[in-house]
Amino acid sequence: MKGLILSGGKGTRLRPITHTSAKQLVPVANKPVLFYGIEAMAAAGITDLGIIVAPETGNEIRAAARDGSAFGVSITYVEQEEPLGLAHAVLTAEEYLDGSPFVMYLGDNLLRNGISDLVQTFTTEQPDALILLTPVPDPENYGVAELVDGRVSRLVEKPAQPATNLALVGVYMFTPAIFGAARSITPSDRGELEITDAIQSLVDSGSRVDPHIVHGWWKDTGQVQDMLEANRLILDDLEERIDGECVDSRVEGRVVIEADARVERSTVRGPAVVGAGASITDAYIGPYTAIGENVTIASAELEYSIVLSGSTVRDLEYRIEASLIGRNVRIGRGPILPKAYRFVVGDNSEISIL
Ligand code: DAU
Repeated sequence: MKGLILSGGKGTRLRPITHTSAKQLVPVANKPVLFYGIEAMAAAGITDLGIIVAPETGNEIRAAARDGSAFGVSITYVEQEEPLGLAHAVLTAEEYLDGSPFVMYLGDNLLRNGISDLVQTFTTEQPDALILLTPVPDPENYGVAELVDGRVSRLVEKPAQPATNLALVGVYMFTPAIFGAARSITPSDRGELEITDAIQSLVDSGSRVDPHIVHGWWKDTGQVQDMLEANRLILDDLEERIDGECVDSRVEGRVVIEADARVERSTVRGPAVVGAGASITDAYIGPYTAIGENVTIASAELEYSIVLSGSTVRDLEYRIEASLIGRNVRIGRGPILPKAYRFVVGDNSEISIL
């Protein structure tokens, strides 16, 4: 069995972070989202992996995941010229997949319990396809499934009026029957060849599509709020480890402080992670915060936030919360009057003064 991870696309909902970086490389608990997918594949015994990349972000993804040997897998990169949909991505990878059954994993998805169980079920039950479903409060944002007698009867992509609350999770198991189905459909209203429509076409042609209900949390990290939630969920399982230096500081609860990080006259209240080479001085780092590598936090307070590598936050009067701060960002307050806001902010940024 092979694995196919979809790491192309545009990442428009995570702008401005994704103006300069692939959304699948935004870190959750200081690890790129994509790596969780690769690790889930490896844990399920799938070592032959194809990764779909876009021309704009492919090099960055290649540089991060390389040949896969660090994960115990072998990675082949497949370039998708344009993000024309998930079913289009599958067709782009047809040659690489070469008639093998495969697991398709959306590179911005996170599943707490991994995929080993499903791979097992798929191998023993041998349906034509197996899809993952989970109840959600906002099914209109996902592919939505209807079941009859425990079998999949109808699938609709992001319906305005969802018939059920069962969302399609971004992990699918396919046999080569999916290629014919993907070729039989036409682009949706958003101009994409939807994998949801291709699976519906399998159902319509009498193929067996089995549902599998996901237990344990699942997150699609497509939007900032989802990233912060995924960060919270991953940090909730954190095991305490202090490799860095703590001077005159309080470190409470499950906290990871990586090597070469320095925490001075500060409080770090877990679950939280402080990346290698970070410097935390006269600061408060609250629960569910991930501080990236070589970040400086001085005379400032943060919680429930993600700060990417190389950024600096200093001299702030109020606490930063629910924030996603990109790479090499500088946030600070100057000492001189008059007091004013001065911003140099990229396209599609969002600043809230609460
Ligand atoms: O997360 C689950 C949802 O994922 C499902 O419920 C939906 O049925 C499914 O269509 C998909 O919806 P999204 O709108 O969230 O998909 P998105 O455009 O975010 O793409 C998912 C991943 O696939 C992402 O890592 C980018 C990548 N991708 C996307 C497209 C459209 C590609 O590699 N190539 C593409 O052409």
